[in-house]
Amino acid sequence: MRGRWILDSRGNPTVEVDVYTEGGFGRAAAPAGASKGSKEALELRDGGNAFMGKGVLKAVRNVNEVIGPSLVGMDSLDQKEIDMKMIELDGTENKSKLGANAIVATSMAVAKAAADSLSVPLYYHLGGALAQTLPTPLLNVINGGAHAGNELAIQEFMIVPWDFSSFSEALQAASEIYHYLKSYLKEKYGKSAINVGDEGGFAPPMRQTREALDALVNAIKKAGYEGRVALALDAAATHFYDQEKGVYRIDGKELDREGLLELYEELIRDYPIVSIEDPLHEEDWEGFKEAVKRLKIRVVGDDLLVTNPKLVKKAIEEGVANAVLVKVNQVGTVTEAYEVVDMAKRASWAAIVSHRSGETEDTFISHFAVGSGAPAIKAGAPARGERTAKYNELLRIEEELGRPKFARDAYFRT
Ligand code: PGA
Ligand code: ZN
Repeated sequence: MRGRWILDSRGNPTVEVDVYTEGGFGRAAAPAGASKGSKEALELRDGGNAFMGKGVLKAVRNVNEVIGPSLVGMDSLDQKEIDMKMIELDGTENKSKLGANAIVATSMAVAKAAADSLSVPLYYHLGGALAQTLPTPLLNVINGGAHAGNELAIQEFMIVPWDFSSFSEALQAASEIYHYLKSYLKEKYGKSAINVGDEGGFAPPMRQTREALDALVNAIKKAGYEGRVALALDAAATHFYDQEKGVYRIDGKELDREGLLELYEELIRDYPIVSIEDPLHEEDWEGFKEAVKRLKIRVVGDDLLVTNPKLVKKAIEEGVANAVLVKVNQVGTVTEAYEVVDMAKRASWAAIVSHRSGETEDTFISHFAVGSGAPAIKAGAPARGERTAKYNELLRIEEELGRPKFARDAYFRT
């Protein structure tokens, strides 16, 4: 096993791990978030001056000097045992000793090495013969919040191409809409409006939530896909919540929980929105319950649940959401992330496998989405190499499966 640092899509260092077994090889890299939930597993950074404090040499050393030697002799097919061994070695609640970046890159590389040693595709290794369905993509085409230098409070404005018979047709529609959107933005807001944010979506100089939604509706119509492509939002509301004053700053206003829920109700009435992620700040479990009852669409927990099986279990019991975002690096191991997808399925929640805003060329999540049978994937815009890497891998998986299924509306059908 060997760890090293490589650069992520924001130009920051991250951990990459190579795993060699007797008959296989796997390589995987940790992604990195910018608008993180406070309860996420810890990404170990060096501090100091190098890389503005973001170096990962300690995490790399943990891979090479602690994790690697401890896993020698274990079987890469025993993913669970290997993940539990790393959790034990770390010994902390949030993987802060060895670093979740060190652990997750190893965990994913082990899965890839196991698939390689069996000479089967990774999605098949993860899901077996049941891995037949391609997820519905949620593509983030307008970026705001912590991911862009504009005034939009809502972080992600996504299109959801669902009424198609295959993933590739859905992706084609998304690409066409993306280009109609580009022309619309250029014409209405000028050339600078087509600069892109961290996830490949445009970051136009808009101030109002409705401006972004109008732009999406226009592009969908122009492309000829009205009724076949829905909208989804990631509010990431923790990041426009003023904790001291107890208000949300959005659209030039200061709203309390009730005001924000009313705003969502109006938006859902006026636009084809099928889900809202983190509609309220991450501590407001009561507010989330209220959102599930009132909004009657998928209410997705990301910062709220941080892919943590314990939190997801509690949230299911209490009805705090009805969908969960699944980011392998938020929890740190493939085993725990898989458990979250399983829990969601049993509770009739939707699981959305997700990238991070800081990504690499790694396509693990494409295989994980198909392998775990999650009905949806969110991997950014249909642009920027680290985003298209995920979608392109899904095209290849679709081709390889021969007669695959497409999840269509399985994501938002409640
Ligand atoms: P992050 O955000 O990867 O920057 O944390 C993505 C999201 O909030 O879904
Ligand atoms: Zn989110």
